[in-house]
Amino acid sequence: MNKQIILLPGDGIGKEIMEAAKAILNTIASEYGHRFTFHQHAIGGDAYEQCGTPLPEDTVKACQSADAILLGAVGDKKYDSLPPHLRPEKGLLGIRKALELYANLRPIKGFTPLMHASPLKESVINGSDILIVRELTGGLYFGKPRERRENGLAAIDTLYYHRSEIERIVERGFQSAQLRNKYLTSVDKANVLESSRMWREIVNKKSKEFPEVTVDHLLVDAAAMKLVTNPNSFDVIVTENLFGDILSDEASVLTGSLGMLPSASLRSDGVGLYEPVHGSAPDIAGKGIANPLAMILSAAMMLRHSFQMIEEADAIELAVNAALDQGYYTPDLDIPNGKQIGTKEMTEVVIENLTNKSVSNSILST
Ligand code: NAD
Ligand code: IPM
Ligand code: MN
Repeated sequence: MNKQIILLPGDGIGKEIMEAAKAILNTIASEYGHRFTFHQHAIGGDAYEQCGTPLPEDTVKACQSADAILLGAVGDKKYDSLPPHLRPEKGLLGIRKALELYANLRPIKGFTPLMHASPLKESVINGSDILIVRELTGGLYFGKPRERRENGLAAIDTLYYHRSEIERIVERGFQSAQLRNKYLTSVDKANVLESSRMWREIVNKKSKEFPEVTVDHLLVDAAAMKLVTNPNSFDVIVTENLFGDILSDEASVLTGSLGMLPSASLRSDGVGLYEPVHGSAPDIAGKGIANPLAMILSAAMMLRHSFQMIEEADAIELAVNAALDQGYYTPDLDIPNGKQIGTKEMTEVVIENLTNKSVSNSILST
């Protein structure tokens, strides 16, 4: 198959991990007889430097006609004083909105070799396997008005949801639960927020169309606690934009590192943008030590969801597991008696596992 893939490396470690994803996809192409054509475009701070805007028109156009999109990360402190419409994050929010990528799937499943890498007890995290279905194009992130008032002494953001926006993401949550363990937890703040009360009504109504799926409602504060005390009590979580953002970073602790979590941002027709959950990690950017696995696993999600290349996606996930099993880890992780390596070396190990070559001794001995 010949696929046109847009690469949006962005800022900070985005560039480093995108190189890793490219190398992995090139390996998949040659191992399985596919052709992936990459088209690189600017987004975020990188695009602001080049074109004066975090989301150039030709980036949007290219994404609109692509088979799939891979995004690294955006953002850096140096852009903090820019007006909101020029900030790197606006590029990411803009592309999600322009492509109507309302369903953000964030799987959280620990790899066995990393059980000790989490600060949580192994007995607590063992066996946990969660999918967060996060609404991505509505809520507080996009509602208007959003402005300063009273001579700058007050600020307003708006939590707006139209029924139709809630219906489509809730439906996606039910569909995901139906395909997994048939248990959906809807997370809201219905004891306080009107939008959450509407959310709950919609979930209850939708549940009639999915009689096999068991539904529970959980308030977001309790959900945050339960995620780290009893993660095994979750299967699929469906929630609004901001809650999903916060809960997914929290849930990454189950896997040992934020650098392990991939995601898919989808719309109904399957068009997808694939991105790690983490950000541009300015504290480690340029050092060659970023964990490329969230990006590599995002590329695997792209193969699975956009191209139906199931065998290829499975192969990447197995190769990642094998790399960790062999004791290789980047500095954000820790594997007792393992070998700490950098971004490029980790990518190399995954490639070697993909091509079934034995892992080079040069890495083990350095
Ligand atoms: P961050 O996710 O960039 O980093 C949080 C911590 O996790 C840091 O200590 C970082 O070093 C570590 N980390 C993250 N990814 C890692 C990886 N792959 N390997 C090893 N360590 C990793 O969050 P932040 O520091 O709060 O934000 C930095 C910038 O990133 C901000 O400008 C923010 O807006 C942006 N951001 C972008 C995205 C995105 O592009 N999707 C997501 C989150 C944050
Ligand atoms: C994420 C990020 C983004 C979000 C930011 C960078 C706009 O934190 O993808 O999780 O909040 O959605
Ligand atoms: Mn986030």
